Amino acid sequence: MNEVRQDDGAHASGAALKKVVLASNNAGKLREFAALLDAAGIELIAQSTLNVPEAEEPHPTFVENALAKARHAAKLTGLPALADDSGLCVRALRGAPGVYSARYAQLAGGEKSDAANNARLVAALQGETDRRGYYYCVLALVRHADDPEPLIAEGRWQGEILAAPRGEHGFGYDPYFFLPSLNASAAELAPAVKNASSHRAIALRHLLARLPEEA
Ligand code: IMP
Repeated sequence: MNEVRQDDGAHASGAALKKVVLASNNAGKLREFAALLDAAGIELIAQSTLNVPEAEEPHPTFVENALAKARHAAKLTGLPALADDSGLCVRALRGAPGVYSARYAQLAGGEKSDAANNARLVAALQGETDRRGYYYCVLALVRHADDPEPLIAEGRWQGEILAAPRGEHGFGYDPYFFLPSLNASAAELAPAVKNASSHRAIALRHLLARLPEEA
């Protein structure tokens, strides 16, 4: 029988997290997450190198989609898995594009592209004075596919939606996402600066703060 330690806060439902599969095929995310997890002694492996296909993201909430992706990767690899789901939430649009950020224009009959998504966003906010919004990211870490206590962490990056694009870096909605505290759009930030302050960075820092519970 497995010995379960109950006196030191260590987690009972899995082995220590030494090797984790990232449930994403995005090379940028792998670089970003791997660097931060390496400092915590965790090796991150891209799911594509283990022949895991992209999972479906059919759910109406970020956390459900992140969990579905993490479970899918854990099930197919037998390893602990980390997944993220993210999007842009705009107050005047009652949280849209939200969980549908990647397909915002497509859902209105347009094409699936950053340019079309941004065009729909700008049109939806025409004449609107409340331009507040935030990028949201949720991370889900499962120790195994049936883990009943996944580690969940979230990050919000507050900003305002511009009417005209600024900057050349980043992707998605970045040219229209303005950070008043930095006086720049996300696309005007050097990639290292964005990666250190973004919704993903905030969520990952929260997750890392909880990892000692797993030791
Ligand atoms: P995913 O969860 O990384 O697949 O992101 C979903 C969608 O949210 C992306 O396709 C973008 O439209 C949007 N998004 C998420 N994070 C960012 C970001 O850092 N910059 C710009 N757009 C983002």
